[in-house]
Amino acid sequence: LEQPARPGSLTGRCVMITAGPTREAIDPVRYLSNHSSGKMGYALAQAAVEAGARVILVSGPVALNAPPGCERLSTQSAQQMHDAVMQRISEVDIFIGCAAVSDYRPAVCEDQKIKKTDSDKLTLTLIKNPDILGDVGALADPPFTLGFAAETQQIKQYAQRKLAAKKLDMIAANDVSKQNVGFNSDINALSVYWETGEAVLPVADKLHLARQLIELVAEKYKEK
Ligand code: CTP
Ligand code: CA
Repeated sequence: LEQPARPGSLTGRCVMITAGPTREAIDPVRYLSNHSSGKMGYALAQAAVEAGARVILVSGPVALNAPPGCERLSTQSAQQMHDAVMQRISEVDIFIGCAAVSDYRPAVCEDQKIKKTDSDKLTLTLIKNPDILGDVGALADPPFTLGFAAETQQIKQYAQRKLAAKKLDMIAANDVSKQNVGFNSDINALSVYWETGEAVLPVADKLHLARQLIELVAEKYKEK
């Protein structure tokens, strides 16, 4: 696991990666989102290109340039990201869900800007978004799937539960309770689980981690 992605370990394979946050519109000028920077997903895209893969990066709004050599599809809402993924999924050998997808969206997007009223309270009703990774895992002939799990407690249990519930081949768990690591940070540490094993990738910069993770994926993909 110490080596960078080996050139050629994913030659001839198509890798799709979701990255960044989603934006869920409330009205024409407002949205719900999160602090995802997209750095981990973009680092994975770069590492996959280095490993020789054809890479489709499905990205929410981020302040990053697409790594040279990958195709970027830009999306805003979870529904748009879901549609972009499903439109191209038949081309994909390996799917990596790295985006911080909003679990819920406003039930309605108002046509006009919501006006402030005399009431001290405003209630927004939210409805569930589609689970992009879950829907990929549930396909009749799914690609090799790697998910991420952002957890603040019981990391291993919750991650393994997601591995099974979403029918994934692998899951990389992130402890987001730690300051300066993970979400919106340059560094990260990951615990990776699959059905018959696990690996710890200790704190490192995201590109270094991405290269190790892509190597692990390439290895498990070939075993499958
Ligand atoms: N994910 C997704 N679509 C969603 C929600 C999550 O594709 N609507 C993906 C994420 O990209 C990540 C994985 O599912 O790879 C796990 O996301 P996470 O937020 O940790 O888990 P959830 O299943 O949403 O459960 P919870 O937020 O309650 O922990
Ligand atoms: Ca979630």
